[in-house]
Amino acid sequence: MRYLFGLIGYPALHSQSPWIHHQFLKQQNKQGLYRVWETAPNELENTLNAMKTLQVDGFNVTVPYKEKMLEYVDRVDPYAAKVGAINTVLFQNGEWIGYNTDGKGFVRSLQESYPDVNLEGLKVLIVGAGGAARGIYTAFLEKGVQRVDIANRTTSRADSLLTINDYGISSTATSLQQAEEALSQYDVIVQTTSVGMSPKDAQQIMKLTNVKQGAIVADIVYKPLETSFLQDAKHCGGRPLHGDGMLVYQAALSYEIWTDTTIQADKVLQNFKQKQKGDSIC
Ligand code: ATR
Repeated sequence: MRYLFGLIGYPALHSQSPWIHHQFLKQQNKQGLYRVWETAPNELENTLNAMKTLQVDGFNVTVPYKEKMLEYVDRVDPYAAKVGAINTVLFQNGEWIGYNTDGKGFVRSLQESYPDVNLEGLKVLIVGAGGAARGIYTAFLEKGVQRVDIANRTTSRADSLLTINDYGISSTATSLQQAEEALSQYDVIVQTTSVGMSPKDAQQIMKLTNVKQGAIVADIVYKPLETSFLQDAKHCGGRPLHGDGMLVYQAALSYEIWTDTTIQADKVLQNFKQKQKGDSIC
């Protein structure tokens, strides 16, 4: 069998997903291609129709279509329905089934990097309230953390995420400024916006002066790997979690859905780190 996988988004051509999925295929000695369909909004339906005709085995969905994709799949996995966004589509028996692996990928990255951390006791702050934040928020709720708050520039948008929470877990929406002042109460802080992404490396969504010593501070931006946010976190006594882990683990979970296999994602993450440093990889 020769798989055909891909990614739809706009912009999408800069994506590292083809490289990562080709590593997964290579690890399992499978034949396949992962291609990028960079698709402007006025071309979305045409591209999706073409992908259906091509019988693409599975594809990822990125900005700005994660929420819109709910309209185009035949079925939605209950977890993705709860998140309200799809980043993975499986083609099975003539149907498209939507999944979301973003949040689970993030939590896996956290657990792999900090295996000593017990999620159940944690107080978590999520910065941002977009598609990525929805997935990460849901994943923390599923893990039964002690509390999880959301800080966003537009507080009403953070409020709208709270409707996902039917777990009885303490959770409030705050402004960025309020969160910045109250940072010392959180064990984990997760930056989920694109602020600080190359080429705007100098931007930082909030100062981390008040961070608790030893708190885990994560950024889902992976270019640059060490964002200003993470540099500041380290300087102020936080423990950093880089964005490349979530990138690779969410991809691994997508690949596992498409192929019904298990992948050794940690090996691919090591290779990815080397590649980003410019080392050659066979
Ligand atoms: P994604 O799917 O990647 O999460 P998104 O749904 O467009 O993208 O969400 C972007 C998030 O980044 C939002 O939380 C947005 O804040 P608003 O809801 O106030 O727009 C946040 N964001 C983007 N640029 C920002 C900036 N310059 N300062 C603060 N927050 C920003």
